[in-house]
Amino acid sequence: MSVELRMRFSRGLHMGFLIAGIVGPATMVMAWFQWHAERRIDQDDLDRRARLLVFQLKESAQDALRHPDREAAKELAGQLEGHSRLIGFAVFRAGGNKVASGKGLSQYMVEIQPVVAEALGDKSEAIGTIRSHDTVVHALATRLTDAQGATRGVIVAVHDVAHLEERATARMIRYAFWSLAVTFMLFALVTGVTWLVYDRPLKDLAEWMRRLRTDNAPDAPPWNLPVALLAKETEHLAASFRAARSSAAADSNGVLADHKHWTRERLRAQALDCLDGGQLVVVSNREPYMHQLNDGEPCLIVPAGGLVTALDPVLQACGGIWVAHGAGDADRQTADAQGNLSVPPGDGRYTLRRVWITREEEQGYYYGLSNEGMWPLCHLAHERPTFRASDWELYVEVNRRFAAAVLEEIGASGATVLVQDYHLALVPQMLKQARPDLRVGVFWHIPWPNPEAFRICPWRTEILNGILGADLVGFHLQQYCNNFLDTVDRMLEARLDWDHFAVELGGHSTLVRPFPISVESWTERRIPTGDALTQQIARFRERYKLSQGQILLGVDRIDYTKGLPERFRAFGRFLEKHPRHRGKVSFVQLGAPSRTHLRRYRDLIVELESLADEINWKFQTDNWMPIRFLVEHHDAATVHAFMQMASVCVVSSLHDGMNLVAKEFVIAKPKCDGVLVLSEFAGAARELPDALIINPYDTEQFADAIRCAVEMDADERTARMHRMRQSVEERNVYWWAASFLTELCGTRISDSRAKPQ
Ligand code: F6P
Repeated sequence: MSVELRMRFSRGLHMGFLIAGIVGPATMVMAWFQWHAERRIDQDDLDRRARLLVFQLKESAQDALRHPDREAAKELAGQLEGHSRLIGFAVFRAGGNKVASGKGLSQYMVEIQPVVAEALGDKSEAIGTIRSHDTVVHALATRLTDAQGATRGVIVAVHDVAHLEERATARMIRYAFWSLAVTFMLFALVTGVTWLVYDRPLKDLAEWMRRLRTDNAPDAPPWNLPVALLAKETEHLAASFRAARSSAAADSNGVLADHKHWTRERLRAQALDCLDGGQLVVVSNREPYMHQLNDGEPCLIVPAGGLVTALDPVLQACGGIWVAHGAGDADRQTADAQGNLSVPPGDGRYTLRRVWITREEEQGYYYGLSNEGMWPLCHLAHERPTFRASDWELYVEVNRRFAAAVLEEIGASGATVLVQDYHLALVPQMLKQARPDLRVGVFWHIPWPNPEAFRICPWRTEILNGILGADLVGFHLQQYCNNFLDTVDRMLEARLDWDHFAVELGGHSTLVRPFPISVESWTERRIPTGDALTQQIARFRERYKLSQGQILLGVDRIDYTKGLPERFRAFGRFLEKHPRHRGKVSFVQLGAPSRTHLRRYRDLIVELESLADEINWKFQTDNWMPIRFLVEHHDAATVHAFMQMASVCVVSSLHDGMNLVAKEFVIAKPKCDGVLVLSEFAGAARELPDALIINPYDTEQFADAIRCAVEMDADERTARMHRMRQSVEERNVYWWAASFLTELCGTRISDSRAKPQ
C-alpha cells in the first residue's frame, strides 16, 4: 500500500471513529425512546384486551359472589382458565379472600395482591406489571359491586407479557442497526461526492498553481473547478501572474532594463528609433503653455496638473506636435492663424497646435461630461457623477474636432499619436477609422474603477469602443489595467486574451499595460538655483512669517479628490494632541484654483478657507500662524522653493491615478532631508513604500503620522528618502515615455483596416 493510500485509509478510519462516537450514542438514545413508545402501545392494547375479557366475566362473577365461597367457586369453575397469553382469572371477596382462580394463576397469588388491594381501595380498577418466576405478567383488577353500588369483590385477569418485551427489544436492536448503517452509508456518499466535486479539483488547482510558479503549467486552469467564480478569478490571477512575470522578464532583459538613468538625450534616441521617420503627436485637452491676459498683456502660464508636468519634458526631448484646447483668453493672439506656436516660448522645441472650441462646447464637453461625469465616475471619492445627454453630444462633437486637428497636422505622413486622458476617449477610434496605419496609444491619467462602478455610465459602450480603437492603452497601475479588462469583459462582446493582456474587437487588437508615470529632475527645469534660490526662500519666509520651525507642505490643484479638508483637520488634530509643537510647526498649502466654473470646486475653496481660519483662530499666536493657505497659480520655481523649505510633504488624495507631487518632492531633496506623508489611495504609494503611508479618512492615524514625520530622526529620514529617490530617479518620466513608445511601436498593426485609404 502506498504512503498516500495508507494516509488516506488512516484518515478515513479516524473520521469513521469520530462519526461513530457522535452518531452511535445519539442513535442509542433514539432507539431507547423508540423501545418505550412501542412498549406503551403494546401496554395500551393489552389493557384494552384485559378490560374486555374482565367485562365479559364480570356479571357471572357478581352473581357467584352472592353465594358462599364453595358454591361460588363451583359456579365459576371452568370460566377462569386461561389460554394462549392469558394465564387466567381470579375472583376475590371484598375482604381480600380468594374465592376462585384459574389453575395457571396459583404461582402468582402473592404477586398480584397489591393490584387486588388497589382495586378494593380508592380506584375501581388497577393495573400492574409484575416480574416474577423469570417471567413478566400483566394484571388488571376490576372492582365488583352489587345493585346498590356496595363493593362485593374483585376480578383479576393475568396475562403473560414476556414476549412483548422481547419483541420490543428486538425491534430496538433492528432500528439501531439500520439507523447506524444508513448514517454511515450517507456519510460515505457525501464524502465521496465532496471528494469528487471539491477535494480533487482543488488539489488539481493547487498542483496547477505550483506548476504555474515554475512555468510548466498548462495555459488553462483545471477544467473541473467547482465554483464558476473561482475558476474565473483563477484565470485572472494566472494572467496577472504571467503578465507580471513577463514584464519583469522584459524589464530585466529588454532595452529599458539597464540601470543607466534615462535622460532627455537617451529618450530622444529611443524615440527616433521607435518612430522610424514618422511624427510624434500628443493630443490632450489641457495645453502645456497657456496665455492669459494680465493688465491687458498676454501672460504665460504653465497649467498645474500631472499631465503637463509629465508630457512637456517628453515633447521637449523628442520634438513633435502637441494638439490641445486653447483655453487661455490670450491664446488666439499668441498663436498663428492655424492656432500653432512654437513652445516653450523663446526656446521652441516643439509645436503647440491650439484647438478652438466655443463656450457652449467647453461647458458640455469639459465641465459637463468630462469633469462632472467621468472624473467622479473614475475617482472613488464619494462624489456622485452627473450625466447629461446634451453634454455627451458635445463631448462627441469636440472629440471629433480634436481628431480632425490631429489628422490635419499629420497630413499624409506616418505618425505615432499619444492620446491623453478621459477627455478624449473617442479620439483613438476616430483616428483609426480615418487612418488605420497610424500607431495610436492612449494614456489614462486617472484611475479606472471596477466594472460595477463604471457600468452606471450611460455611454459606457461607446467610451470603451472609443478607447479600444488604440493599439496600446496605458494606465498607471496593473490594478487599473485589470479593472479595465474586467469592464471590457462584462460590457463588450470582445475576446480577452488574459495571457497577453490584450483585447480583440472587430479584428483589431489592443494591448493594455501599466506605465507608472513620473517626473524629470528639477535641475532640468528653468528654476532658480544657488543664490537666487536662497534669496527666493528668504523672501517667502519673510512674507509668510515662516522664519521659525519646521514647514509641512501640500501642493495641489484644489480638487475634492485631493483630500484637502482631511489634511487640514489632521493637522489641527496634531496641534491639539501635541501642544509642544505649537508655534514650531507650520503648514503651507499651495492650492491652484481648478475648474472653478463648477460650483463643487468653488464651494471647496470656501470650505477650505473657513477650515483653515477655524484652526488658525484656535491656535495662532502673535508671531505664528498654523496654516497658510495660498490660493493662486504657483509656478514651478515657487513650488520648488517651498519644497526646499519644507521638511515634510503631505499628499492625502482620497483617490489618485498617480500623484506626481509626491515624486516631485522626493527629487527636490538631494540631501535626503525630508519626509513624505502619502495616502494609500494615491497610485504613487505602490512605488514609494518608504513614505509614511496614511489613510486620509482616519484623522487620528493621519495626525499621528504627522507627529511621526515631524519627530523622525535624521538617520531614518535620510534612509527612507534615499530609497525613494533611487526609485524615482531610475523610473523618471523619460523612462516612462520610452517604455510607452517602445511598447506602442512594437504593436502589430495587422488588421484588415490597416491600410491608408
Ligand atoms: O491628471 C488628471 C488631469 O485631469 C489631467 O488630465 C490634467 O492635466 C489635470 O488633471 C488638471 O486638470 P484640468 O486639466 O482639468 O485643469
